[in-house]
Amino acid sequence: MLIQPTSQIEYTLNHLFNDSKKDQIKILKALSKSVFRPMQLLDFKDIYLSITKTQGAFLKSLIVENQYKNIVEFGTSFGISTLYLAQGVLETNGHIITTELIETKAKRAVENFKKAGVENHIEMRIGDAMEALKGHDKPIDLLFLDGWKDLYLILFQMLEPNFRSHTLIYVDNANMKASQVFSNTISKNKTYQMTSKFKGKVVLIRNKR
Ligand SMILES: C[S@@+](CC[C@H](N)C(=O)[O-])C[C@H]1O[C@@H](n2cnc3c(N)ncnc32)[C@H](O)[C@@H]1O
Repeated sequence: MLIQPTSQIEYTLNHLFNDSKKDQIKILKALSKSVFRPMQLLDFKDIYLSITKTQGAFLKSLIVENQYKNIVEFGTSFGISTLYLAQGVLETNGHIITTELIETKAKRAVENFKKAGVENHIEMRIGDAMEALKGHDKPIDLLFLDGWKDLYLILFQMLEPNFRSHTLIYVDNANMKASQVFSNTISKNKTYQMTSKFKGKVVLIRNKR
């Protein structure tokens, strides 16, 4: 029997969420290493750090309700959030560009996109998002920020020429200390309005025009 793409995505997501249950223990191990030396990027190479199922369903509904087609993601990890974005673009006939710094994670994410049957809707760019998205010259409908927080502001500013009046910027982990410079700067910018979701974990940024 041919499995339809949506259930193939759900099947893959269930598998990934099950695997991500080990995250907490892995995070503790990564943090314990930082007692002896500064934290390193590769300490997180096996850790999902993914959005929740509720957030994923919300992302999909945003895409479908607003008929977003051009999606850019900062921070793929193993692709959980990207698969929710894919559920959305399957309904709008859209396209996702996603970026992941750690090559092994990016490659696993691509395998997951294939398992879910949505690889044709997703362009995986491996490397620093600042490089991978440099010179991006297409309008962005939805920008999903979920990489390291110290890059939120400069990445946002780099991609600002691609924003249109309807563009939505979805900021995950907006309540983390490292996101505060970004949030404070955007909140002072009269061009944008910010709405808090999920008890402040997420902030949605829209153009006021
Ligand atoms: C919170 S995780 C992303 C989780 C993913 N969005 C999900 O919900 O399944 C953050 C990811 O961003 C990646 N990252 C950090 N800095 C990056 C950069 N400069 N460019 C691209 N990816 C980056 C990390 O390697 C990590 O895998």
